[in-house]
Amino acid sequence: MRTKIVAGNWKMNKNLKETEALLTELSAKLPDTKAEVIVAPTFVNLAAANAALQSSTIKVAAQNMHFAESGAYTGEISADMLLGIDVDIVILGHSERRAYFGEDDALLAKKVKTAVDKGLKVIFCFGEELEDRKADKHFALVESQLKNALFNLDASAWKNIILAYEPVWAIGTGETASPEQAQEMHAFIRKTISDAFGSAVADGVSILYGGSVKPSNAAEIFSKPDVDGGLIGGASLVASDFVAIIEAI
Ligand code: G3P
Repeated sequence: MRTKIVAGNWKMNKNLKETEALLTELSAKLPDTKAEVIVAPTFVNLAAANAALQSSTIKVAAQNMHFAESGAYTGEISADMLLGIDVDIVILGHSERRAYFGEDDALLAKKVKTAVDKGLKVIFCFGEELEDRKADKHFALVESQLKNALFNLDASAWKNIILAYEPVWAIGTGETASPEQAQEMHAFIRKTISDAFGSAVADGVSILYGGSVKPSNAAEIFSKPDVDGGLIGGASLVASDFVAIIEAI
């Protein structure tokens, strides 16, 4: 049985005091849930987030990491640095890092391998642009993103992989994929994994949907059989909205 997950990608938002305030409110309002709840503040606030959540079940994730053990990579963060502050979940491959920082499948394959080898869980993001979908190339693109970055992994490594399908045209736009569109792509993703690694691996992978998930649409999206939760951006920055989305799973 795979895990239901609601994860909040805070992106470049919330200073230290705002982080502590949001997490205090979120901890107080967190409902009983079967879902795993994860928040991803910015690097500088990760240790404080873990401290603020020490008596909570909410887990903390980083929004990125470098593939190297250490070295001359100004501004970067290594897996060991994350593990050193008890952060063992990392988001990789987000479309904003692909777009703004030139992260391609080859670089992401190196980052994913380092993360998995170090024992971190990876929330791996991928998804098509609107023009890909309009040209009916979205399935081919998603398949290539998965194969190029993840299919070098051993079957055993997939227990540390969480997938997040995020159609780029739905991120931050208020233009959410329909529940049917999400289910269609998630089912395709699961079959692609099953064809390569077998149904046991495919059925065990949590596939999250991301892209304008809100309290108003979360329940219908999460009701689909191959949608195992959500990776939430804007709505994760407001405790009441994030709680409403958690209650929807
Ligand atoms: O990583 C999640 C994010 O890209 C979705 O953003 O604001 O559309 O929920 P948002």
